[in-house]
Amino acid sequence: MGKASKDKRDIYYRKAKEEGWRARSAFKLLQIDEEFNIFQGVKRVVDLCAAPGSWSQVLSRKLYLPAKSSPESRDHDLPLIVAIDLQPMAPIDGVIQIQGDITNARTAEVVINHFDGCKADLVVCDGAPDVTGLHDMDEFVQAQLILAALTIVTHVLRVGGKFIAKIFRGKDTSLLYCQLKLFFSSVTFAKPKSSRNSSIEAFAVCENYSPPEQFNEKDLHRLLEKIGSPSGSSDLDCGSGWLEGPNKVYIPFLACGDLSGYDSDRSYPLPAAAEGGASYRSLDPVQPPIAPPYKTALELKKASEKRETPSLSNPDEETAPRI
Ligand SMILES: C[S@@+](CC[C@H](N)C(=O)[O-])C[C@H]1O[C@@H](n2cnc3c(N)ncnc32)[C@H](O)[C@@H]1O
Repeated sequence: MGKASKDKRDIYYRKAKEEGWRARSAFKLLQIDEEFNIFQGVKRVVDLCAAPGSWSQVLSRKLYLPAKSSPESRDHDLPLIVAIDLQPMAPIDGVIQIQGDITNARTAEVVINHFDGCKADLVVCDGAPDVTGLHDMDEFVQAQLILAALTIVTHVLRVGGKFIAKIFRGKDTSLLYCQLKLFFSSVTFAKPKSSRNSSIEAFAVCENYSPPEQFNEKDLHRLLEKIGSPSGSSDLDCGSGWLEGPNKVYIPFLACGDLSGYDSDRSYPLPAAAEGGASYRSLDPVQPPIAPPYKTALELKKASEKRETPSLSNPDEETAPRI
């Protein structure tokens, strides 16, 4: 699919380029904020799985840049934004970047060190493994990423803080909800308008961090396994089947973003075409990933195209992922 065709079929992809966002995902965080006001009173944030960086851009534009341009701003008092990803990211104003794996204890330590004894007000995680298309498998790997994020949360988030995490809705959603509810007094699963209906993606919006009394971070996994067990004891059954029937859990679910706004599953005419004017010129991606995992594959493809039919290679071929 060429860029112009993508622009037509995916309004958020086009709007992201027009507004200078690195990925369409920026709108998901903005729409979650519209509904939940997640940035209110926030000065310290961790952005987990942040590349190529559109959520970090939102954090920078909403928190760092306004504080920086305020006449009363002092350097030591500016918002602290720490972003982590397996992939390197191009720089963003006011964002400290760490390249690392969030499932690795060492990465958690590096994040904690940046906070220098202080705690974060907000942790966001838009992590996604490479999707296989096998829903059970994808949901399982996604759940592992959320648990890694929750481990970091238990170390860095202040009591009363918020955690936003991408989830895949599937058969173990009730279990995940109960696990998150153990740590937050309010958990809502939200579907921003910019997230396609065809995708099982949603976002857990967890508010008011309040871990169980005398909670020790080392006990996290044991505690979570208990939730997975019908008796809450050692005969562990980490499936959530037992949460059905009389034990059924009702999960608050909310669509967010302006409901009369753009629909991510619809095609929209391109601006010039709609006005009958000159032909539309598609914009380049704001910041293509600097070292995407598919880089080698692209290079091999380009090399083989050059060898076979040099004149047929498409100059419009685009490298930014559609996330
Ligand atoms: C959907 S993208 C995030 C998009 C980002 N929020 C944005 O707005 O630009 C998912 C990211 O998760 C990262 N990721 C997946 N597993 C990870 C892990 N174990 N540790 C760190 N990052 C991971 C991937 O490298 C990828 O960049």
